[in-house]
Amino acid sequence: MSKAATKEGTTRYAQKFAGRAAESHFREAHRLVLSSLGIGTYLGQPDEKTDAGYTAAAVAAVENGINVIDAAINYRFQRSERSIGTAIRQLAAKGFERDEIVVCTKGGYLTPDGSMPADPNEYFFREYIQPGVFSAKDIAAGSHCMTPKFLKNQLGRSLKNLSVECVDVYYLHNPETQLSEVSKAEFLGRVREAFTFLESAVEAGEIQYYGMATWNGFRQDARARDSMQLAEIAQIAQEIAGGRHHFRFVQLPFNLGMTEALTLGNQSVRGHHRTVMEAASDLDITLIASASLLQGQVAKNLPQFVAQALGLENDAERALQFVRSSPGITTALVGMSRLEHAKANARLAGVAPATVDEFSKLFSRGEGA
Ligand SMILES: NC(=O)c1ccc[n+]([C@@H]2O[C@H](COP(=O)([O-])OP(=O)(O)OC[C@H]3O[C@@H](n4cnc5c(N)ncnc54)[C@H](OP(=O)(O)O)[C@@H]3O)[C@@H](O)[C@H]2O)c1
Repeated sequence: MSKAATKEGTTRYAQKFAGRAAESHFREAHRLVLSSLGIGTYLGQPDEKTDAGYTAAAVAAVENGINVIDAAINYRFQRSERSIGTAIRQLAAKGFERDEIVVCTKGGYLTPDGSMPADPNEYFFREYIQPGVFSAKDIAAGSHCMTPKFLKNQLGRSLKNLSVECVDVYYLHNPETQLSEVSKAEFLGRVREAFTFLESAVEAGEIQYYGMATWNGFRQDARARDSMQLAEIAQIAQEIAGGRHHFRFVQLPFNLGMTEALTLGNQSVRGHHRTVMEAASDLDITLIASASLLQGQVAKNLPQFVAQALGLENDAERALQFVRSSPGITTALVGMSRLEHAKANARLAGVAPATVDEFSKLFSRGEGA
């Protein structure tokens, strides 16, 4: 049995929904078939109720046509990864095999284990500094680290938390955090070291692809201190591993209130001005949208013209429809710690993404009025 998502497994998964899922709900990227919606696990309290909520929501999501699961080691102090681990074991018992599910997580932020320790400094000293996993000089902004030694340690913990032998997409978590403290040249050197480790983790079969999950880095004006150029980053992967490098996924916020990936020409690829969506397409990198509901804020009270353009039953559906229908977005991640949200959002699996015509109505409101 495969220890990671595969083309065969994810295709088999999609076929289980033949006749139920709309045709372009499933999309192929890098030899995997991904659903247009994915479950995120960021928000919520580090408590047992939320653990159980995420596990139930993830099981229901996979049972209803959503095969992309997103976590990060620091989400709810490692509890979100463990909730997903429980879901993956429950799903195996229900006949959903590991090779059907695209399991993604992130490393970069220091995190305690399960709950906030009484003395965090003592915890990090004992767990990390004393055994030589990192030293104080490796930490940026008081909380971020992406040295190979640290990433190796974090990946090992994530594999255990998630109960998998291989993570399908391993992201550096908000790497642009480092740019608040270090120079661009130093930053790119750190990215090179991190990518060298991540390519070796691919070689070792512990990850399948890697990427960057970002918040500001790809949404800013190109002159901002913490902005990043996708072509420059991809070039580093190219120099390490050639055309067969595994830097193939980027996650960034994209929703009705944060549309920069589609609208802002802040990238440059081979001398051409590009949006992030265009740059990603030029560089064969798959874009995954985070915060598709703007952390719940666009799940209600949307202006009337959105309903007129997209139809559907409610604003949460319209907000998700916007993201999953955007050119260049493969999967729209939505945080769901509640079973009823997983069931409700999965209804969209049966709905075709908006047509170009419907989608462009959102951008032409008022025209001709
Ligand atoms: N920098 C990064 O790497 C980064 C940053 C942000 C997010 N992410 C990823 O992207 C995922 C999604 O982003 P997010 O969780 O921050 O925000 P989000 O998906 O925009 O919103 C999640 C919130 O929306 C609620 N919700 C879900 N479905 C709903 C529905 N049908 N109607 C009303 N409310 C609904 C959820 O409630 P319940 O929880 O109660 O179900 C939760 O409070 C994250 O979970 C994470 O995996 C990554």
